[in-house]
Amino acid sequence: MAVILDGKLTSAKVRERIKNEVDALPEGARRPGLAVVIVGDDPASHVYVRNKKKGCEEVGFLSREYALPESTTEEELIALVEELNRDSEIDGILVQLPLPRHLDDKKVIEHIDPSKDVDAFSYHNVGRITVGDYDFLPCTPAGVMELLHEYNIDVSGKNAVVVGRSNIVGKPQALLLLQANATVTVAHSKTKNLSEVTRGADVLVVAIGKAKFVTADMVKEGAVVIDVGMDRDENGKLCGDVDFEGVCDKASYITPVPGGVGPMTITELLKNTLTSYKRRNNI
Ligand code: GUN
Repeated sequence: MAVILDGKLTSAKVRERIKNEVDALPEGARRPGLAVVIVGDDPASHVYVRNKKKGCEEVGFLSREYALPESTTEEELIALVEELNRDSEIDGILVQLPLPRHLDDKKVIEHIDPSKDVDAFSYHNVGRITVGDYDFLPCTPAGVMELLHEYNIDVSGKNAVVVGRSNIVGKPQALLLLQANATVTVAHSKTKNLSEVTRGADVLVVAIGKAKFVTADMVKEGAVVIDVGMDRDENGKLCGDVDFEGVCDKASYITPVPGGVGPMTITELLKNTLTSYKRRNNI
């Protein structure tokens, strides 16, 4: 039976450190501030945004939510982003993705001041991460690395396989594993003999959005298995991209869903917001 990588517990530890830093700010000093912008009424996105807001409040940050109607135009959304760029109470701006189809994600993100881009999605920040000179790391991949670190799992020299190549998770995850000296393979929907590739992984990170896709026969004995999925099974129950029940007997470490990577993502967002606040205040 694998050791469970407990994202809830690890998150609580990191959030406690963040809260202590906020509590130690001088009396009357401004708190770190995060603005979250959501357009339309996608229920899953609203749940994520609510959790981000809750996370901010727990550590004593200022949190502002802008819920805009589906009919919002690109000009209106960009005008709000620019207003938040100038807002001295705001250190981080997050535009929840996906945006409704008539809005261009990339164009909107490019209007966020890179020093407030706490998702690290802008070309400027992606470029800085690529060369290893960054202020912010993308939240989900950074959360995975923090979880590995917490359990003293060193990926140096190991074969790491990332399944999924999204700009939000797969690609930046591969970069961070590479920076930690893993030998990295990125597999995706067009990969031939996927099971063979995943069976070569000492560290397997799965981010493809397909419920219980990775089964025990696809996993090497003793592998570290990280599940970034947030899916629903045939009964509508929350599950990941990995068949947890089958894989946990074979893996050495495994993340549960929920309670694994999910809580870490928001914790990294809080870390980035605090980093931005400190830079803005020369702390
Ligand atoms: N949608 C799914 N994950 C994310 C994320 O990390 N940031 C934003 N802005 N949108 C998302």
